[in-house]
Amino acid sequence: MLVDSHAHIELKDFNKDRDDVIDRARKNGIDYIVTVGIELDDCRRAVSVAESYEMVFASVGIHPHFAKAIDDETYDVLRELAKHEKVVAYGEIGLDFFRNLSPRDIQIRRFKEQLELAHELDLPVIIHDREAHKEIMEILEPWNGNQRGIIHCFSGDYAMAKQCLDWGYYISVPGTVTYKNSSVLRDVVRKVPLNKLLVETDCPFLTPDPKRGKRNEPANVVLTARKVADIKGVPFEEVCRITSKNAMDVFGIP
Ligand code: NI
Repeated sequence: MLVDSHAHIELKDFNKDRDDVIDRARKNGIDYIVTVGIELDDCRRAVSVAESYEMVFASVGIHPHFAKAIDDETYDVLRELAKHEKVVAYGEIGLDFFRNLSPRDIQIRRFKEQLELAHELDLPVIIHDREAHKEIMEILEPWNGNQRGIIHCFSGDYAMAKQCLDWGYYISVPGTVTYKNSSVLRDVVRKVPLNKLLVETDCPFLTPDPKRGKRNEPANVVLTARKVADIKGVPFEEVCRITSKNAMDVFGIP
């Protein structure tokens, strides 16, 4: 069994063949997919996709790209959506200082508010960190382990990973681990205990090698799990079993 802990199958990229995509995931041994909302309408779609497929769960929250669109009503809607039985996490939230689609000060403010909201809702957080390691760690530090969750698409070094582990977070490994230039991520995968790792696609983005260049989909999480097995020198089945258990523990999927 295998869990794709972070996908975006609610996006329109999958409107034409969502059934087939889910079918291929199942045929490749994927048991669960967590589809992650990025803005309010997208969160509604994520919940609706989760309603339509037994193996799909949803996460709701506002991605840092859309932080500037948050208004007074946004959190009320998210609170309502979060009550749905298929919603298992809050996110993705965080900071993106690479694309800077929202001003940095607004990203920071909305990230802090959403950490509070996730805590109030008693949901694990899914954290997005792109080129903002220092600020992310500064914001997480006061929580000091009083927040459970996942650092999605981990892009820091082992020192940062170690601090995240000490605070109780899981590290999620995307398909980029298969790319030639991802030696820092491979070092993280080598050193972080398997019982702290998740695997994800972040589809339709970040397609692993050798499929890079095509649209990504949950079935490809197998390629990432194989690479993790390779790096750690453990059987593929063990990576599947333990990362799935980690995912089900953090998301509270029975
Ligand atoms: Ni994502």
